[in-house]
Amino acid sequence: MNKPVEGFSKLTKDQKIDWLTANYTQDPDNAKALLHRYWNTDAKIQQLHDEFIENTITNYYLPFGIAPNFLINEKLYAIPMAIEESSVVAAASKAAKFWLSRGGFKSTILGTEKIGQVHFMYSGDTAKLKNFFEVVKPKLISEASSITRNMEKRGGGISHIELREQTQKMPNYYQLHCTFETLDAMGANFINSCLESFAKTFKKEAQIFAPFTEEERNIEVVMSILSNYVPNCVVKAEVSCSVDEFKVSEQMSSRQFAEKMVRAVNIAKIEPYRAVTHNKGIMNGVDAVVLATGNDFRAIEAAAHAYAAKDGAYSSLTHAKIEDDTFYFWIEIPLALGTVGGLTSLHPLVNLAMEILGKPTSKELMQIVAVAGLAQNFAAVRSLVTTGIQEGHMKMHLLNILNQLGANEAEKNTLIDHFKKNTATHSAVVEAFQKLRE
Ligand code: MEV
Repeated sequence: MNKPVEGFSKLTKDQKIDWLTANYTQDPDNAKALLHRYWNTDAKIQQLHDEFIENTITNYYLPFGIAPNFLINEKLYAIPMAIEESSVVAAASKAAKFWLSRGGFKSTILGTEKIGQVHFMYSGDTAKLKNFFEVVKPKLISEASSITRNMEKRGGGISHIELREQTQKMPNYYQLHCTFETLDAMGANFINSCLESFAKTFKKEAQIFAPFTEEERNIEVVMSILSNYVPNCVVKAEVSCSVDEFKVSEQMSSRQFAEKMVRAVNIAKIEPYRAVTHNKGIMNGVDAVVLATGNDFRAIEAAAHAYAAKDGAYSSLTHAKIEDDTFYFWIEIPLALGTVGGLTSLHPLVNLAMEILGKPTSKELMQIVAVAGLAQNFAAVRSLVTTGIQEGHMKMHLLNILNQLGANEAEKNTLIDHFKKNTATHSAVVEAFQKLRE
């Protein structure tokens, strides 16, 4: 049985590795060698990564790929994507190329509002609390001025503070529901600092608010934190083309294909089991760009799925229709993204990703990411309603299987050729590999 360790974070990196490999691996020398192989040879880059988190022992690589030929609002982009799933970049590139010759993608910002809340308990007269809130509101703002000054200079800051009674959900529960404009920053630190300042001022001023009784003065702040649910920080991305231009396969007319696409999207709108997988495909594209640009994919995921359920049932984030012989396909997705602050200025590859994208503002990045999600969904649903998903997926996954089997370069080339004409399933690849070795 392993024993708990004291003061692990104080150990040097080598000491941590020694302890870990001795206690938790079968072959410590081999494990150590592997951890070392993933260190960066550039000491400065390694130190940067070591300091991103606590207890770093090595780096965890993801492929950083490029999906070129994305025409978005008349501008051509090559989109960086960090993702491990074999078929994602290929699918994005294919969708980009398809829409390149059909007018490209259009994308529009529908809102950029960020949200934060101070959750507190108050037992007393609600009318008195409302009155207190009106009196204290200017102070909440003025006492946060050292935090908001720079953001205000650039045109952002606190947009609105509202008192919300939530006692119907939980006795004595109220909120300060606050909205912010954080411009090119994702804004988590800014918002949380503002909220903590509001909470402090609110509590302090309650102590000296004359109409309150002793009990009413004792406001209990439970927590002050931004909300990752941002239903008003939303971007729309869309494509359209005449149904006649929609030919993708010899087996199906362009109208049949357009109608099948619409039907598939409509199934995801009404059937949550399908909607989750449908939206997962969208997030394949979204997360890959969010990661490559150093943004917080957990925040983006949480917001996207909450938004997908905003009308009371979990539903598709994309929509499709045929109107006047035109096929329309679009997405509306909340994306609280930043292009300054956080990892964006620290991680050299994130810097490069931003340069590749033409140093976008956060609004431009929202547009690019929404397009990546829409393109990914288009590629997935197109495969699903035509060839089925496995054909393309297995083509891309073939190399992973061959690598797992330990195929050499010559064997890989032979088998890649073989599976151009044959259906690749896991067992078919293993069988063909074994036959080749025999
Ligand atoms: C696989 O990562 C994503 C898909 O399942 C998405 C979909 O079904 O729409 C292909």
